[in-house]
Amino acid sequence: MPKTNYICSDYQTNILNPITMKQLLFNNGDRFPQTGLGTWLSKPNEVYDAVIDAIKAGYRHIDCAYIYGNEKEIGNALRFAFDTGLVSREEMFITSKLWNNFHAAEDVEPAVRKSLHDLQLDYLDLYLIHWPFAFKHPQAKSADDLISLEELPLEMTWKAMEKIQKTGLAKHIGVCNFSIPKLKNLIEKSEIKPEVNQVELHPYLQQTQLVQFCTDNDIVVTAYSPLGSHHLTGTDNSITRCPAIIEIARKHRCTEAQVILAWGLHRGTAVITQSTNTSRISENLDAENIQLDEKDISEIALLNRDYRNSSGSFAVFQGGPYTLENIWDK
Ligand SMILES: NC(=O)c1ccc[n+]([C@@H]2O[C@H](COP(=O)([O-])OP(=O)(O)OC[C@H]3O[C@@H](n4cnc5c(N)ncnc54)[C@H](OP(=O)(O)O)[C@@H]3O)[C@@H](O)[C@H]2O)c1
Repeated sequence: MPKTNYICSDYQTNILNPITMKQLLFNNGDRFPQTGLGTWLSKPNEVYDAVIDAIKAGYRHIDCAYIYGNEKEIGNALRFAFDTGLVSREEMFITSKLWNNFHAAEDVEPAVRKSLHDLQLDYLDLYLIHWPFAFKHPQAKSADDLISLEELPLEMTWKAMEKIQKTGLAKHIGVCNFSIPKLKNLIEKSEIKPEVNQVELHPYLQQTQLVQFCTDNDIVVTAYSPLGSHHLTGTDNSITRCPAIIEIARKHRCTEAQVILAWGLHRGTAVITQSTNTSRISENLDAENIQLDEKDISEIALLNRDYRNSSGSFAVFQGGPYTLENIWDK
């Protein structure tokens, strides 16, 4: 297991209705609830209930993004939760992300303001660059729709992100889908280094070197698609159908999904599982109560297959600046 140099602690939230949740800490002492609710592909008509269910179950961390097209409905759910005293704004940790067509410095502040407006918030807890590539339009259909990193370097976008933090629109700033070379470049050229790298992580894509690099550099890691995403769950290739995971689940009398999430928590990463199903939302948070032992951890370590779902292939076009190799610096 990689060394964690940020503290992992249990924390009681809400004095009237105490709920103990695992927390990571930022360098300034702010808390980052380790289990969050993912909202990609949560349908607008379902995400409202999912957010309310999650808050009632004890979640205090919601992972959002402009491009998911459901921030308005999430905002309505948060407004209801705050107005009815279900939870306070200060207890919640809300993340959103800058989409690829807003990388130009002058587009960053309007983009964060749009998410704040839709989410009905005054500030975000965390704002992330969603991908390390730039588009001219929300979706790219050919190489003509892309902007290269030579034309619009990531450090220019990052300077505007730093301003977002300085003006208080987001308490913390970070990136998603950044490789070690891209993180190193940003750290070298920036005033404020990224506080979070949100990347795909699950037993089939463990990215141990990247997790270790982030830990060594005080960058908190969030595991997205921690169950392997909708591409895998429910299919024959599902990680939940892996015999080693089934065996560990039997041993701990828990579900396979809980084993996978407990592994992500054990590594010191935050895990943001998407679900709109009330019982699975609770089940996923309950993974915080599963204690894997060293034997479980070493068995899961053997499952890595470098299987990536979110490859960034939607930015790769003939004649364009991006390739799968240069996105991941392979
Ligand atoms: N930064 C990025 O580029 C990026 C990319 C991808 C994802 N993300 C973030 O990470 C979040 C999670 O990733 P993801 O949505 O790709 O994948 P995921 O959370 O690994 O998997 C979601 C799928 O798992 C199912 N599921 C949830 N809990 C389950 C359980 N206990 N047992 C069995 N199945 C279960 C869900 O179905 P049900 O709804 O039916 O439960 C859904 O089909 C996203 O929602 C998003 O917030 C970020």
